[in-house]
Order: sequence, then structure tokens, then C-alpha cells
Amino acid sequence: MAEQRTSIHGQWSNRTVFILAATGSAVGLGNIWKFPYITGENGGGTFVLVYLLCIALIGLPIMMAEIMLGRRGKRSPINTMRALAKDEHRNPGWAWLGWMGVVAGFLILSYYSVIAGWALSYIFRTAGGLFLGATADGVNSIFTDLVSDPERLLAWHTVFMVMTMAVVARGVKNGIEKAVTVLMPLLFGLLIVVVIYAMTTGYFMDGVRFLFTPGTIDSKGVLIAMGHAFFTLSLGMGAIMVYGSYLTSDHSIVQASIMIALADTVVALLAGLAIFPIVFANGLEPSAGPGLIFQTLPIAFGHMQGGTLVGVVFFSLLVFAAWTSAISLIEPAVAYLVENKGLSRIQAAEWMGVVTWLVGLGTVFSFNIWKDKTLTIPFLFEKFTFFDTLDYLTANVMLPLGGLFIALFSAWVMHQQSTREEMATYPLVYTIWRFLVRFITPLAVIVVFLKAVGAI
Ligand code: PHE
Repeated sequence: MAEQRTSIHGQWSNRTVFILAATGSAVGLGNIWKFPYITGENGGGTFVLVYLLCIALIGLPIMMAEIMLGRRGKRSPINTMRALAKDEHRNPGWAWLGWMGVVAGFLILSYYSVIAGWALSYIFRTAGGLFLGATADGVNSIFTDLVSDPERLLAWHTVFMVMTMAVVARGVKNGIEKAVTVLMPLLFGLLIVVVIYAMTTGYFMDGVRFLFTPGTIDSKGVLIAMGHAFFTLSLGMGAIMVYGSYLTSDHSIVQASIMIALADTVVALLAGLAIFPIVFANGLEPSAGPGLIFQTLPIAFGHMQGGTLVGVVFFSLLVFAAWTSAISLIEPAVAYLVENKGLSRIQAAEWMGVVTWLVGLGTVFSFNIWKDKTLTIPFLFEKFTFFDTLDYLTANVMLPLGGLFIALFSAWVMHQQSTREEMATYPLVYTIWRFLVRFITPLAVIVVFLKAVGAI
């Protein structure tokens, strides 16, 4: 029965396009903005090690599960979960898992767009020569000026939302596919340029040591590393699932997943190797927080030969990466509105765009007029702004929870016959995958959760 389904939204032209699109979703601000700063905040080496373990033992199996579910269901994650549950003669109420993903995706996009807006504005700042010869203090005050001005943040947030929705509105074939085919190869090229520069700073090995020498980590750090594994691979909210629904059945899920996870990890590590040598070469702080790349890199761009060009290239890279991820954050919601509410893609994109933009105002204000309005939730976080709260709640709670249930659904709710049909190419890999999603992955997520809230 599942074999005969086709997606009403169209399908990828070929496997390479799927891999590019999924890699485009995975590689984003998470790799280039977030990975370096949370690594810096959590002490480096050990954090990176835990993160890599989470990618291998939790992320990869869940990615295979998500692609498998999407490809079998061939609909938006909400309808896919409902349809697959029905196929398996289970409770169609599993659609809630799709709903949680839609909510997580749009919450993430609401702040993602604001940060992408910072990157957009930095392309122009760098191009205009603003950082030439700038001191650390100068660069710091340029960043502070930007984030403390709600109007400017709002303007860039708006530009980025319009860019995202313009692609989503064009649909799978004309929009997403075209955008990623151009942007992804460009992105790899641009990143290599910055890493090569980092090698010339004389502090390359300091960056390497920081990233790979084990130190200490607490249970919150482990939760953040795990949450980031979900975030960076776009897992637990249906982004990869919805991309999987545009994939035809004749491709290997295992191979595709490994390539996507590998590409994502390589980009994150490359970003670390690009950023930390520059941080150390300039005596800067790795633990500067969300502003890390914006407060530190411009100093380097301001002093190096050809720095204006490298800087413009770097921030363009960041925007491209964010763009191809943002598209996938909202695609599950848009696909659902088209399927169930009879909206055209354009209308659905407009609606979601407006709502997401509105919620984004909360993040815009978190850095200025609401800076001191903080929230404390026992066990989870203390004194968090609107932005911190959204970030923590989505990446460290909603995505792992979504992933946990995706694993449970594929391993315990679906019949073995059904999952085997989808992943039959490599019998041994299938056996290992099933063992992981049945026991190891769920257990790991639960233990990390319980440890982080101090229950064990
Ligand atoms: N993976 C993206 C990044 O690293 C963010 C993302 C999360 C995209 C969840 C889609 C779904 O920036």
C-alpha cells in the first residue's frame, strides 16, 4: 500500500538533489554560529567528543528513521504519522508527533531568522570597510550597537523571512531544489577559504587543541551536546522527514544518511577550525556566547590582508547556510497547510511567514528592550531571556523528545516487516539500526534528560 503513494508536492529530480537539500537543511547557523560558541562555552574537547558520540549513536539512526518514515508516508509529517499509524493498525493519534515538530520548527525559525539577520547585516558592514583596523572594543561596540537597536534587527529579520518564504512559496522543484543546487557547493568552497586563512595565523594548532583535547563537562553540557546533535542534523521535528517524503523509493536511506551526517559534521569541525585559531590569534575569548563569531571574527577581517573580501565571503556563506536550513524549518507546516487547508503554496508560505515573523519579535526584543525580562524554570534554566528560552526549549527539549518518539515509533510501533521493506539494501546495517533505535537511542536520550534535571 505504501509503495503506491506519491507526494502531491512533487519529488526530487534525483538522489543527489535530495542529499544536497538534506545537507542544506542540516548545515546552517547550527554549524557555523552555534557549534563554535557552545563548544567555547562548554570547554572544548570533551564537549566535541560527546557531540560526536551523539551524532553517531543517536543522530544517525534517527536520521535513517526520519527519512524512512517520510518516504513511506509521502506527506507532511503530521499526515505521514497519521497515515503510517493507520497502515500499522495503530492509533492515528500519533499525528501529535508531527504537530510537535511543526511547532518546534516554527519556533526555531522565529529566532533563527533574527540571527540570520545579523549575518546579513554583517555582509554589508564588512563590505563597507567598517572593520578595517578595528580594535576588539570597536568591534564589540559595533555588535552591541546592532543588537541593541530593535529597528535594525527587525529590518534584517524581515529581509531574511521574505527570502525564506520566497523560496518555500515556489515549491519543491522550482524553489528548494534550485536554491540548494547553487548554494551548497558554493558554501563548501567558501568555508575552505576561511580555513586556509586560519592556517596562516600561526595559531592553527591552538584551535585544534581546543577542539580536540578532552577536559571536563557537566550533565547540562551533555544535554546541550545531545540537543545540538539533533539541532545540527535537523532531526526530531520533521524537516528531514518531509524532505524524505519527496524521495522516490529506489534509493538507499543508509547511504544518504551517512553522507548527510558526515557532511554536516565536517562543516561544523571546519567552522571550528576556521574560527578558533582566529579567536586565539587575537587573544579573544572562546566563551563569548551567541555573539562569538560577530564579536571576534571582524577583528581578524579588519587586520588581515584581503580581510574585507574574506569577511564578505564568510558572512555570505553564513547567510546561504542559514537560508537552506530555514526553508526546511517551515516546510513541514507549509506542506500541512497545502494538504489539509486547501491553501496554495504561496498562501501557506505567506501565512506561516507572517506568524513566524511575529514570534520573531520576541527574539528581536530579547537583545534590547526585553533584555532584563528573564524567565526561570526549575531544573531547566535560570534567568533566560525570550531568545534563550526558545533556543533551550526547542534544541534541548523538543527536538530530543521528538527524536525519542520517532525512534520508539519506528522500532516498537511499526511492524518489523514494514521497516525492513524500506531498509532492505544492507541487512546487517538494518539489524544494527533496529537494535539502536529499539534500545540504545531511546535509552541514551532518556538518561541524558534525567541526568540534566538531576533525577539520577
Ligand atoms: N540544522 C540546522 C542548523 O544546523 C537547523 C535546523 C534545525 C534546521 C531543525 C531544520 C530543522 O542550523
